[in-house]
Amino acid sequence: MEEVKKIYSCYGEYERLIRHRMEFYINLRYIKENIHDKSLKILDLGGGPGRYAVELTKAGHKVTLIDLTDFHVKEAKRLSKEEKIKLHKVQQGDALDLSSIKDDSFDVVLAMGPFYHIKKAAQRKQCINEIKRVLKNDGMLFTAHLSKCAFYKYIVREMPEVIDRFYENLIHIHSHGVKKYSDGDLFTDNTYCENAEDILGFMKKSGFVNGEVIASEGLVDQIEDKLKELEKSKFDMIAELNYMFCKDPRILNAASHLLYKGVNKK
Ligand SMILES: C[S@@+](CC[C@H](N)C(=O)[O-])C[C@H]1O[C@@H](n2cnc3c(N)ncnc32)[C@H](O)[C@@H]1O
Repeated sequence: MEEVKKIYSCYGEYERLIRHRMEFYINLRYIKENIHDKSLKILDLGGGPGRYAVELTKAGHKVTLIDLTDFHVKEAKRLSKEEKIKLHKVQQGDALDLSSIKDDSFDVVLAMGPFYHIKKAAQRKQCINEIKRVLKNDGMLFTAHLSKCAFYKYIVREMPEVIDRFYENLIHIHSHGVKKYSDGDLFTDNTYCENAEDILGFMKKSGFVNGEVIASEGLVDQIEDKLKELEKSKFDMIAELNYMFCKDPRILNAASHLLYKGVNKK
């Protein structure tokens, strides 16, 4: 976990979601469309600098944010102050150990970060069991994941001239979800990649029902930078079209980020 802290201590996640405007739009819209009640108790686990937590608080929910990285905990406090809203709680903590939280404390859990980085099967199980415990029966879970093609697409777009440095690892990720050996890239050395069917199988085995996976960027993740500054009325049209595609099972595994939704059964 120390390596993961290191990544996010020098990484502008808040700016990343401004850059990835479409990912933020689709995830937030999908979450809001799936939680119908008002004033729910929500845990944003691995909530980073708090962009989702802030928006869900504005929508009337009581949000607790926990993140591994002190820097992001501070950023979440700063952002909520700037937005003039009050998050219920903001604290440092590890998704693998939620022992400070009682059973059945939350109506909704977002874990949009931890599953990117937990590579060992036993620890993924430990994390989902902790989430199940603090989430009420019939509570809703949203988890974010990196797909198996995420780094392949990134490297081909940004630095195809050094593909030889990453080639063997990209082949290994395609089969196993993780790299074969460290190639010195702190972020990708510490990530776990999976496809929609892997996520649905894991969650079903862990006792979640009504599972669904969507493609967080729909069809536009290769051109997202172009959308960053686009005027709102035009962005909205593209977003509307993209939202129609994001649930299409035929395109899911071609997206870089996947969002899972399921219901907890105890
Ligand atoms: C890519 S960021 C996403 C932040 C936020 N959920 C969002 O979508 O904007 C991943 C976040 O997960 C946090 N994280 C990773 N592993 C974690 C763990 N085991 N427990 C708690 N937080 C974790 C990181 O510190 C980082 O802030």
